[in-house]
Amino acid sequence: MSISANSDGNQQGNRLDPWFNTYAERAHNLRASEIRALFSVVSRPEVVSLAGGMPNLTDLPLDRLAESAKHLIATHGAQAMQYGSGQGWEVLREHITEVMSYDGILGADPDDVVITTGSQQALDLMTELFINPGDVILAEAPSYVGALGVFRARQADVVHVPMDENGLIPEALEQSIHDVRASGRTIKMLYTIPNFHNPAGVTLSLERRPRIAEICMREQVLILEDNPYGLLGFHSDPLPAIQSFSPEGVVYLGSFSKMFAPGFRIGWAYAPHAIRDKLVLASESAILSPSMVGQMAIAGYLRDYDWYSQVKAFRSMYAERAQAMLGALEEYMPDCTWTIPDGGFYTWVTLPAGLDAKSMLPRAVRAQVAYVAGTAFYYDGQGRDHMRLSFCYPTPERIREGVRRLSTVVHAEKELVEMFGAAFHKHDIDEVGPGIAPAPNAL
Ligand SMILES: Cc1ncc(COP(=O)(O)O)c(C=O)c1O
Repeated sequence: MSISANSDGNQQGNRLDPWFNTYAERAHNLRASEIRALFSVVSRPEVVSLAGGMPNLTDLPLDRLAESAKHLIATHGAQAMQYGSGQGWEVLREHITEVMSYDGILGADPDDVVITTGSQQALDLMTELFINPGDVILAEAPSYVGALGVFRARQADVVHVPMDENGLIPEALEQSIHDVRASGRTIKMLYTIPNFHNPAGVTLSLERRPRIAEICMREQVLILEDNPYGLLGFHSDPLPAIQSFSPEGVVYLGSFSKMFAPGFRIGWAYAPHAIRDKLVLASESAILSPSMVGQMAIAGYLRDYDWYSQVKAFRSMYAERAQAMLGALEEYMPDCTWTIPDGGFYTWVTLPAGLDAKSMLPRAVRAQVAYVAGTAFYYDGQGRDHMRLSFCYPTPERIREGVRRLSTVVHAEKELVEMFGAAFHKHDIDEVGPGIAPAPNAL
Protein backbone atom coordinates (compact mmCIF):
# COMPACT_ATOMS: atom_id res chain seq x y z
CA MET A 1 0.00 0.00 0.00
CA SER A 2 1.30 3.46 -0.80
CA ILE A 3 1.22 6.57 1.30
CA SER A 4 -2.06 8.39 0.78
CA ALA A 5 -3.45 11.81 1.62
CA ASN A 6 -7.04 12.81 2.27
CA SER A 7 -8.76 15.80 0.64
CA ASP A 8 -7.35 18.19 3.28
CA GLY A 9 -3.91 17.04 2.33
CA ASN A 10 -3.43 15.36 5.71
CA GLN A 11 -1.18 12.42 5.45
CA GLN A 12 -2.98 9.20 6.36
CA GLY A 13 0.08 7.19 7.05
CA ASN A 14 3.75 6.96 6.41
CA ARG A 15 6.10 4.76 4.48
CA LEU A 16 6.48 2.33 7.36
CA ASP A 17 2.86 2.17 8.44
CA PRO A 18 0.07 3.37 6.14
CA TRP A 19 -2.38 3.13 9.07
CA PHE A 20 -0.39 5.44 11.34
CA ASN A 21 -3.16 8.01 11.71
CA THR A 22 -5.85 5.39 12.13
CA TYR A 23 -4.72 4.09 15.50
CA ALA A 24 -6.48 5.10 18.70
CA GLU A 25 -4.61 7.81 20.57
CA ARG A 26 -3.58 5.41 23.30
CA ALA A 27 -1.83 3.14 20.78
CA HIS A 28 0.77 5.86 20.38
CA ASN A 29 1.61 5.39 24.06
CA LEU A 30 2.96 1.94 23.23
CA ARG A 31 6.65 2.45 22.71
CA ALA A 32 9.49 0.04 22.35
CA SER A 33 12.46 0.53 24.56
CA GLU A 34 15.65 1.67 22.88
CA ILE A 35 17.45 -0.88 24.99
CA ARG A 36 15.31 -3.58 23.41
CA ALA A 37 17.79 -3.69 20.53
CA LEU A 38 20.53 -4.49 22.97
CA PHE A 39 18.64 -7.49 24.27
CA SER A 40 19.23 -9.46 21.10
CA VAL A 41 22.92 -9.06 21.85
CA VAL A 42 22.40 -9.86 25.49
CA SER A 43 21.03 -13.31 24.77
CA ARG A 44 24.38 -14.31 23.21
CA PRO A 45 26.10 -16.92 25.38
CA GLU A 46 29.27 -14.86 25.85
CA VAL A 47 27.30 -12.05 27.50
CA VAL A 48 26.50 -12.43 31.21
CA SER A 49 22.99 -11.11 31.53
CA LEU A 50 22.21 -9.63 34.93
CA ALA A 51 19.27 -7.98 33.19
CA GLY A 52 16.48 -10.52 32.85
CA GLY A 53 13.95 -11.55 35.48
CA MET A 54 13.51 -15.05 34.14
CA PRO A 55 13.23 -17.76 36.79
CA ASN A 56 15.81 -20.52 36.69
CA LEU A 57 13.89 -23.71 35.98
CA THR A 58 16.74 -26.22 35.87
CA ASP A 59 15.66 -27.66 39.25
CA LEU A 60 12.15 -28.54 38.06
CA PRO A 61 11.45 -32.29 37.71
CA LEU A 62 10.92 -32.00 33.95
CA ASP A 63 10.71 -35.76 33.29
CA ARG A 64 7.97 -36.20 35.85
CA LEU A 65 6.18 -33.11 34.56
CA ALA A 66 6.30 -34.56 31.05
CA GLU A 67 4.69 -37.76 32.35
CA SER A 68 1.99 -35.73 34.10
CA ALA A 69 1.28 -33.73 30.94
CA LYS A 70 0.98 -36.94 28.93
CA HIS A 71 -1.34 -38.45 31.53
CA LEU A 72 -3.45 -35.28 31.60
CA ILE A 73 -4.05 -35.31 27.85
CA ALA A 74 -4.60 -39.06 27.76
CA THR A 75 -7.18 -39.08 30.56
CA HIS A 76 -8.78 -35.59 30.42
CA GLY A 77 -7.78 -34.39 26.95
CA ALA A 78 -11.27 -33.39 25.82
CA GLN A 79 -11.68 -31.10 28.85
CA ALA A 80 -8.11 -29.82 28.82
CA MET A 81 -8.31 -28.82 25.15
CA GLN A 82 -11.71 -27.15 25.50
CA TYR A 83 -12.76 -23.59 26.44
CA GLY A 84 -13.36 -23.17 30.15
CA SER A 85 -15.03 -20.77 32.54
CA GLY A 86 -14.12 -17.10 32.13
CA GLN A 87 -13.40 -16.88 35.85
CA GLY A 88 -11.08 -19.86 35.72
CA TRP A 89 -11.36 -23.52 36.65
CA GLU A 90 -12.95 -24.03 40.05
CA VAL A 91 -10.54 -26.80 41.03
CA LEU A 92 -7.53 -24.53 40.50
CA ARG A 93 -9.25 -21.66 42.30
CA GLU A 94 -9.61 -23.99 45.34
CA HIS A 95 -5.89 -24.79 45.22
CA ILE A 96 -5.08 -21.09 44.93
CA THR A 97 -6.82 -20.39 48.24
CA GLU A 98 -4.40 -22.86 49.84
CA VAL A 99 -1.40 -21.15 48.16
CA MET A 100 -2.60 -17.77 49.46
CA SER A 101 -2.81 -19.13 53.02
CA TYR A 102 1.02 -19.07 53.04
CA ASP A 103 0.73 -15.30 52.59
CA GLY A 104 -1.53 -14.99 55.61
CA ILE A 105 -4.74 -14.84 53.56
CA LEU A 106 -6.80 -17.33 55.53
CA GLY A 107 -10.21 -18.70 54.62
CA ALA A 108 -10.19 -17.17 51.13
CA ASP A 109 -13.29 -17.84 49.08
CA PRO A 110 -12.48 -19.55 45.74
CA ASP A 111 -15.44 -17.70 44.33
CA ASP A 112 -13.52 -14.43 44.67
CA VAL A 113 -10.52 -15.70 42.73
CA VAL A 114 -10.21 -14.83 39.03
CA ILE A 115 -7.62 -16.76 37.05
CA THR A 116 -5.71 -14.71 34.52
CA THR A 117 -3.07 -15.11 31.84
CA GLY A 118 -0.23 -14.35 34.23
CA SER A 119 -0.60 -11.59 36.75
CA GLN A 120 0.34 -9.27 33.89
CA GLN A 121 -3.17 -9.69 32.48
CA ALA A 122 -4.63 -8.94 35.92
CA LEU A 123 -2.66 -5.67 35.93
CA ASP A 124 -4.13 -4.81 32.57
CA LEU A 125 -7.69 -5.70 33.62
CA MET A 126 -7.46 -3.63 36.78
CA THR A 127 -6.16 -0.67 34.82
CA GLU A 128 -8.87 -1.07 32.21
CA LEU A 129 -11.57 -1.18 34.89
CA PHE A 130 -10.41 1.77 36.98
CA ILE A 131 -8.44 4.23 34.90
CA ASN A 132 -9.79 7.14 32.93
CA PRO A 133 -7.14 9.08 31.01
CA GLY A 134 -5.20 11.25 33.44
CA ASP A 135 -6.20 9.36 36.62
CA VAL A 136 -3.35 8.88 39.05
CA ILE A 137 -1.88 5.58 40.17
CA LEU A 138 0.48 5.84 43.12
CA ALA A 139 3.42 3.44 42.84
CA GLU A 140 6.68 2.92 44.63
CA ALA A 141 9.76 4.75 43.38
CA PRO A 142 10.98 2.73 41.51
CA SER A 143 8.32 0.28 40.27
CA TYR A 144 7.87 -2.77 38.05
CA VAL A 145 8.56 -1.87 34.42
CA GLY A 146 5.78 -4.14 33.08
CA ALA A 147 3.17 -2.42 35.26
CA LEU A 148 4.36 1.03 34.22
CA GLY A 149 4.00 -0.02 30.59
CA VAL A 150 0.38 -1.08 31.17
CA PHE A 151 -0.39 2.08 33.11
CA ARG A 152 1.01 4.25 30.34
CA ALA A 153 -0.80 2.31 27.62
CA ARG A 154 -4.06 2.89 29.52
CA GLN A 155 -3.27 6.61 29.86
CA ALA A 156 -2.79 6.68 33.62
CA ASP A 157 -0.50 9.16 35.28
CA VAL A 158 1.87 7.55 37.78
CA VAL A 159 3.04 9.41 40.86
CA HIS A 160 5.97 7.72 42.58
CA VAL A 161 6.08 7.39 46.36
CA PRO A 162 9.47 7.09 48.06
CA MET A 163 10.57 3.87 49.71
CA ASP A 164 13.49 2.90 51.95
CA GLU A 165 15.04 -0.38 53.05
CA ASN A 166 11.72 -1.25 54.77
CA GLY A 167 9.63 -0.66 51.66
CA LEU A 168 7.02 2.01 50.98
CA ILE A 169 7.16 4.85 53.54
CA PRO A 170 3.71 5.38 55.13
CA GLU A 171 4.28 9.08 55.85
CA ALA A 172 5.37 9.64 52.24
CA LEU A 173 2.26 7.85 51.04
CA GLU A 174 0.04 10.14 53.12
CA GLN A 175 1.90 13.17 51.80
CA SER A 176 1.55 12.01 48.18
CA ILE A 177 -2.17 11.42 48.57
CA HIS A 178 -2.51 14.90 49.99
CA ASP A 179 -0.35 16.55 47.30
CA VAL A 180 -2.02 14.81 44.36
CA ARG A 181 -5.50 15.67 45.62
CA ALA A 182 -4.45 19.25 46.33
CA SER A 183 -3.42 19.51 42.67
CA GLY A 184 -6.97 18.57 41.69
CA ARG A 185 -6.18 15.13 40.31
CA THR A 186 -7.99 11.87 41.03
CA ILE A 187 -6.14 8.98 42.67
CA LYS A 188 -7.53 5.61 41.65
CA MET A 189 -5.18 3.20 43.36
CA LEU A 190 -1.90 2.42 45.04
CA TYR A 191 0.11 -0.18 43.13
CA THR A 192 2.57 -1.90 45.45
CA ILE A 193 4.93 -4.90 45.45
CA PRO A 194 5.44 -5.59 49.16
CA ASN A 195 7.75 -8.61 48.93
CA PHE A 196 11.24 -8.73 47.39
CA HIS A 197 10.40 -5.75 45.29
CA ASN A 198 11.04 -5.65 41.56
CA PRO A 199 13.36 -3.79 41.01
CA ALA A 200 14.30 -2.47 44.47
CA GLY A 201 14.85 -5.84 46.17
CA VAL A 202 13.43 -4.62 49.51
CA THR A 203 10.45 -5.89 51.52
CA LEU A 204 7.71 -3.93 53.24
CA SER A 205 8.20 -4.40 57.00
CA LEU A 206 5.56 -6.16 59.08
CA GLU A 207 4.98 -3.02 61.10
CA ARG A 208 4.19 -0.93 57.99
CA ARG A 209 1.66 -3.32 56.46
CA PRO A 210 -1.36 -2.50 58.66
CA ARG A 211 -0.40 1.19 58.50
CA ILE A 212 -0.45 1.22 54.69
CA ALA A 213 -3.77 -0.66 54.78
CA GLU A 214 -5.20 1.82 57.31
CA ILE A 215 -4.07 4.93 55.40
CA CYS A 216 -5.54 3.67 52.14
CA MET A 217 -8.79 2.62 53.78
CA ARG A 218 -9.13 6.01 55.49
CA GLU A 219 -8.28 7.88 52.28
CA GLN A 220 -10.41 5.60 50.10
CA VAL A 221 -7.52 4.53 47.88
CA LEU A 222 -7.80 1.01 46.52
CA ILE A 223 -4.64 -1.08 46.93
CA LEU A 224 -3.37 -3.27 44.10
CA GLU A 225 -1.02 -5.67 45.88
CA ASP A 226 1.25 -7.51 43.42
CA ASN A 227 2.98 -10.49 44.97
CA PRO A 228 4.66 -12.82 42.48
CA TYR A 229 7.80 -13.34 44.62
CA GLY A 230 6.20 -13.72 48.06
CA LEU A 231 7.04 -17.39 48.55
CA LEU A 232 10.66 -16.91 47.53
CA GLY A 233 12.06 -15.55 50.80
CA PHE A 234 15.58 -16.86 51.41
CA HIS A 235 15.30 -17.47 55.12
CA SER A 236 11.72 -17.17 56.21
CA ASP A 237 8.11 -17.77 55.37
CA PRO A 238 6.23 -14.80 53.89
CA LEU A 239 5.01 -11.87 55.94
CA PRO A 240 1.21 -11.52 55.96
CA ALA A 241 -0.15 -9.86 52.82
CA ILE A 242 -1.52 -6.31 53.09
CA GLN A 243 -4.77 -7.93 51.94
CA SER A 244 -5.00 -9.74 55.31
CA PHE A 245 -5.25 -6.33 57.04
CA SER A 246 -7.84 -4.89 54.66
CA PRO A 247 -9.84 -7.54 52.77
CA GLU A 248 -12.28 -4.99 51.35
CA GLY A 249 -9.61 -2.50 50.34
CA VAL A 250 -7.19 -4.68 48.41
CA VAL A 251 -7.06 -6.52 45.11
CA TYR A 252 -4.32 -9.10 45.56
CA LEU A 253 -2.41 -10.51 42.57
CA GLY A 254 -0.60 -13.83 42.60
CA SER A 255 1.27 -15.82 39.99
CA PHE A 256 2.71 -19.25 39.34
CA SER A 257 5.46 -17.74 37.19
CA LYS A 258 8.17 -17.49 39.84
CA MET A 259 7.13 -20.16 42.34
CA PHE A 260 6.66 -22.74 39.57
CA ALA A 261 7.04 -21.78 35.89
CA PRO A 262 5.93 -18.87 33.69
CA GLY A 263 5.33 -21.03 30.61
CA PHE A 264 1.75 -21.90 31.50
CA ARG A 265 1.02 -18.17 31.88
CA ILE A 266 -1.26 -18.62 34.87
CA GLY A 267 -1.78 -15.99 37.55
CA TRP A 268 -4.75 -14.73 39.51
CA ALA A 269 -6.53 -11.83 41.16
CA TYR A 270 -8.27 -12.17 44.53
CA ALA A 271 -10.71 -9.32 44.84
CA PRO A 272 -13.64 -7.99 46.86
CA HIS A 273 -16.83 -9.45 45.44
CA ALA A 274 -18.05 -6.52 43.31
CA ILE A 275 -14.63 -5.99 41.74
CA ARG A 276 -14.38 -9.74 41.15
CA ASP A 277 -17.57 -9.57 39.05
CA LYS A 278 -16.15 -6.80 36.89
CA LEU A 279 -12.81 -8.56 36.50
CA VAL A 280 -14.55 -11.67 35.19
CA LEU A 281 -16.52 -9.63 32.64
CA ALA A 282 -13.43 -7.75 31.51
CA SER A 283 -11.38 -10.93 31.27
CA GLU A 284 -14.10 -12.72 29.28
CA SER A 285 -14.19 -9.83 26.87
CA ALA A 286 -10.39 -9.91 26.50
CA ILE A 287 -9.65 -13.64 26.31
CA LEU A 288 -12.95 -15.60 26.76
CA SER A 289 -11.27 -17.97 29.20
CA PRO A 290 -7.76 -18.65 30.49
CA SER A 291 -5.89 -21.66 29.09
CA MET A 292 -7.64 -24.78 30.32
CA VAL A 293 -4.70 -27.05 29.70
CA GLY A 294 -2.41 -24.72 31.65
CA GLN A 295 -4.84 -24.54 34.56
CA MET A 296 -5.26 -28.31 34.69
CA ALA A 297 -1.50 -28.88 34.51
CA ILE A 298 -0.93 -26.49 37.40
CA ALA A 299 -3.76 -27.98 39.46
CA GLY A 300 -2.18 -31.41 38.89
CA TYR A 301 1.20 -30.06 40.00
CA LEU A 302 -0.27 -28.63 43.20
CA ARG A 303 -2.17 -31.85 43.87
CA ASP A 304 0.44 -34.50 43.02
CA TYR A 305 3.77 -32.87 43.86
CA ASP A 306 5.30 -31.67 47.07
CA TRP A 307 5.22 -28.18 45.58
CA TYR A 308 6.21 -26.43 48.79
CA SER A 309 9.44 -28.48 48.93
CA GLN A 310 10.10 -27.34 45.37
CA VAL A 311 9.56 -23.74 46.49
CA LYS A 312 12.09 -24.34 49.29
CA ALA A 313 14.59 -25.74 46.78
CA PHE A 314 14.10 -22.60 44.65
CA ARG A 315 14.63 -20.45 47.72
CA SER A 316 18.01 -21.94 48.55
CA MET A 317 19.12 -21.84 44.92
CA TYR A 318 18.23 -18.13 44.67
CA ALA A 319 19.75 -17.44 48.11
CA GLU A 320 23.06 -18.87 46.93
CA ARG A 321 22.94 -16.72 43.80
CA ALA A 322 22.06 -13.61 45.78
CA GLN A 323 25.02 -14.32 48.05
CA ALA A 324 27.29 -14.66 45.01
CA MET A 325 26.09 -11.30 43.72
CA LEU A 326 26.35 -9.44 47.01
CA GLY A 327 29.81 -10.90 47.66
CA ALA A 328 30.99 -9.90 44.18
CA LEU A 329 29.58 -6.39 44.58
CA GLU A 330 31.50 -6.00 47.83
CA GLU A 331 34.67 -7.26 46.24
CA TYR A 332 34.54 -5.49 42.88
CA MET A 333 32.29 -2.47 43.24
CA PRO A 334 32.91 -0.91 46.67
CA ASP A 335 32.23 2.58 45.31
CA CYS A 336 28.58 1.66 44.62
CA THR A 337 25.81 0.95 47.12
CA TRP A 338 23.04 -1.63 46.79
CA THR A 339 20.01 -3.06 48.58
CA ILE A 340 20.22 -6.37 50.45
CA PRO A 341 17.33 -8.58 49.31
CA ASP A 342 15.85 -11.21 51.65
CA GLY A 343 14.30 -13.04 48.71
CA GLY A 344 13.25 -12.71 45.10
CA PHE A 345 15.48 -11.98 42.13
CA TYR A 346 16.94 -8.46 42.33
CA THR A 347 19.23 -5.95 43.91
CA TRP A 348 19.09 -2.23 43.18
CA VAL A 349 22.45 -0.59 42.72
CA THR A 350 23.27 3.10 43.14
CA LEU A 351 26.20 4.26 41.03
CA PRO A 352 28.86 6.76 42.12
CA ALA A 353 27.84 10.41 41.62
CA GLY A 354 27.72 11.58 38.00
CA LEU A 355 27.48 8.12 36.40
CA ASP A 356 24.59 7.37 34.08
CA ALA A 357 23.45 3.74 33.91
CA LYS A 358 21.52 4.29 30.71
CA SER A 359 24.29 5.80 28.66
CA MET A 360 26.77 3.29 30.10
CA LEU A 361 24.75 0.28 28.94
CA PRO A 362 26.20 -0.09 25.42
CA ARG A 363 29.70 -0.01 26.92
CA ALA A 364 28.66 -2.69 29.41
CA VAL A 365 27.29 -4.86 26.62
CA ARG A 366 30.58 -4.39 24.78
CA ALA A 367 32.27 -5.69 27.94
CA GLN A 368 29.83 -8.64 27.71
CA VAL A 369 27.63 -7.93 30.69
CA ALA A 370 24.08 -6.53 30.79
CA TYR A 371 21.75 -4.94 33.33
CA VAL A 372 18.60 -2.85 33.20
CA ALA A 373 19.15 0.89 33.68
CA GLY A 374 17.15 2.50 36.48
CA THR A 375 15.19 4.82 34.17
CA ALA A 376 13.07 1.87 32.99
CA PHE A 377 11.49 1.70 36.45
CA TYR A 378 10.27 5.28 36.69
CA TYR A 379 7.51 7.10 34.90
CA ASP A 380 9.26 10.42 34.96
CA GLY A 381 12.82 9.93 33.75
CA GLN A 382 14.40 9.49 37.19
CA GLY A 383 16.77 6.63 37.87
CA ARG A 384 19.81 7.36 35.72
CA ASP A 385 22.13 6.74 38.66
CA HIS A 386 20.63 3.30 39.31
CA MET A 387 20.64 -0.12 37.75
CA ARG A 388 18.78 -3.30 38.49
CA LEU A 389 20.89 -6.42 38.74
CA SER A 390 19.17 -9.83 38.66
CA PHE A 391 20.75 -12.87 40.20
CA CYS A 392 18.01 -15.35 39.29
CA TYR A 393 19.26 -16.81 36.06
CA PRO A 394 23.06 -17.08 35.71
CA THR A 395 25.05 -19.53 37.85
CA PRO A 396 26.95 -18.14 40.87
CA GLU A 397 30.22 -18.32 38.89
CA ARG A 398 28.72 -16.37 35.99
CA ILE A 399 27.25 -13.84 38.39
CA ARG A 400 30.69 -13.20 39.90
CA GLU A 401 32.20 -12.88 36.44
CA GLY A 402 29.37 -10.57 35.34
CA VAL A 403 29.89 -8.26 38.30
CA ARG A 404 33.65 -8.27 37.69
CA ARG A 405 33.09 -7.21 34.06
CA LEU A 406 30.60 -4.58 35.16
CA SER A 407 33.09 -3.18 37.65
CA THR A 408 35.62 -2.53 34.86
CA VAL A 409 33.00 -0.51 32.99
CA VAL A 410 31.95 1.41 36.09
CA HIS A 411 35.57 2.23 36.95
CA ALA A 412 36.33 3.40 33.41
CA GLU A 413 33.16 5.50 33.44
CA LYS A 414 34.07 7.00 36.79
CA GLU A 415 37.45 8.04 35.45
CA LEU A 416 35.81 9.74 32.48
CA VAL A 417 33.38 11.59 34.73
CA GLU A 418 36.23 12.69 36.97
CA MET A 419 38.17 13.91 33.94
CA PHE A 420 35.41 15.56 31.89
CA GLY A 421 32.39 15.92 34.17
CA ALA A 422 29.01 14.22 33.70
CA ALA A 423 28.24 16.06 30.44
CA PHE A 424 30.31 13.71 28.28
CA HIS A 425 27.58 11.09 28.00
CA LYS A 426 24.69 13.46 27.35
CA HIS A 427 23.97 12.33 23.81
CA ASP A 428 24.72 8.64 24.11
CA ILE A 429 21.15 7.37 23.97
CA ASP A 430 18.10 9.45 23.21
CA GLU A 431 15.55 9.82 25.90
CA VAL A 432 13.31 6.79 26.23
CA GLY A 433 9.82 7.80 27.26
CA PRO A 434 8.49 6.54 30.55
CA GLY A 435 6.27 3.50 30.61
CA ILE A 436 7.91 1.98 27.58
CA ALA A 437 7.08 -1.58 26.66
CA PRO A 438 9.91 -3.62 28.10
CA ALA A 439 11.62 -6.41 26.23
CA PRO A 440 10.02 -9.53 27.78
CA ASN A 441 13.38 -10.77 29.03
CA ALA A 442 13.91 -7.49 30.88
CA LEU A 443 10.92 -8.01 33.19
C1 LIG B 1 6.28 -7.44 40.08
C2 LIG B 1 5.78 -8.27 38.94
N1 LIG B 1 4.46 -8.32 38.71
C3 LIG B 1 3.97 -9.04 37.70
C4 LIG B 1 4.79 -9.76 36.86
C5 LIG B 1 4.15 -10.53 35.72
O1 LIG B 1 4.25 -11.89 35.97
P1 LIG B 1 3.38 -12.98 35.23
O2 LIG B 1 2.52 -12.31 34.22
O3 LIG B 1 4.36 -13.92 34.63
O4 LIG B 1 2.54 -13.62 36.30
C6 LIG B 1 6.17 -9.75 37.05
C7 LIG B 1 7.08 -10.46 36.14
O5 LIG B 1 8.27 -10.36 36.18
C8 LIG B 1 6.68 -8.98 38.13
O6 LIG B 1 7.99 -8.93 38.40
